[in-house]
Amino acid sequence: MKLVPVFEDPDCPVPIIQGAGEFERLLKLYKHLKPTRIVEIGSLFGGTLFEFMKNTPSQGLYQFISIDLPVNPDDSRYEQQMMGHRYLWSDWADNFSNKKKKVELVDVLSRPSAWCVQDVVQLFGTIDFLFIDGSHRYQDAKLDWEFYRPYMTPTGVIAFHDIYRHTAIDQVWQLWEEIKAEGYVTREFSTIEDQDDWGIGVVFL
Ligand SMILES: C[S@@+](CC[C@H](N)C(=O)[O-])C[C@H]1O[C@@H](n2cnc3c(N)ncnc32)[C@H](O)[C@@H]1O
Repeated sequence: MKLVPVFEDPDCPVPIIQGAGEFERLLKLYKHLKPTRIVEIGSLFGGTLFEFMKNTPSQGLYQFISIDLPVNPDDSRYEQQMMGHRYLWSDWADNFSNKKKKVELVDVLSRPSAWCVQDVVQLFGTIDFLFIDGSHRYQDAKLDWEFYRPYMTPTGVIAFHDIYRHTAIDQVWQLWEEIKAEGYVTREFSTIEDQDDWGIGVVFL
């Protein structure tokens, strides 16, 4: 696989597992859209969650739901993931809030994303912006797409991470090809030429 430069932000206290150019373009779109009900599937250390919280406008109410599964406790990422869930993320929401702006976070850890749809709908009604970066297996990503899409606002946006990576467990590319073939308005964000890793696919509903 070709090396993709990693997105960095000195303000962010945890690693962000995203390509520089593609995530910058996603954040530019996000800032333009100004979504108020944001769902992230797959947060891990919280790097992307931090950026979505940080890039909210200066006033208003911004509500976030993070749906994440713990990695295996033997996995070297486990401690840092738990640190985020237990101690960091709710502080971020408080720190990004002020007299004019409120950032709220509901942190769902322990249930696969597709099982949480009804809870999300109960909390939000509809979703403005959905970032799907959980399980990258075809069947799981397809469930996320099929379960959450009906609950998006009519002008909502769904972004998928890892549309270029092809491995035994990275099969989002397959779903991405199907979505494009269905005729949805889509954009692909990449960081380098002929990229074969990471990559972000955006669907405009
Ligand atoms: C690639 S990481 C997310 C990286 C993060 N978005 C970032 O860029 O910093 C994927 C995360 O999704 C979680 N995950 C895997 N399958 C899931 C599922 N079905 N529902 C929710 N989370 C899932 C993993 O445990 C992991 O924490």
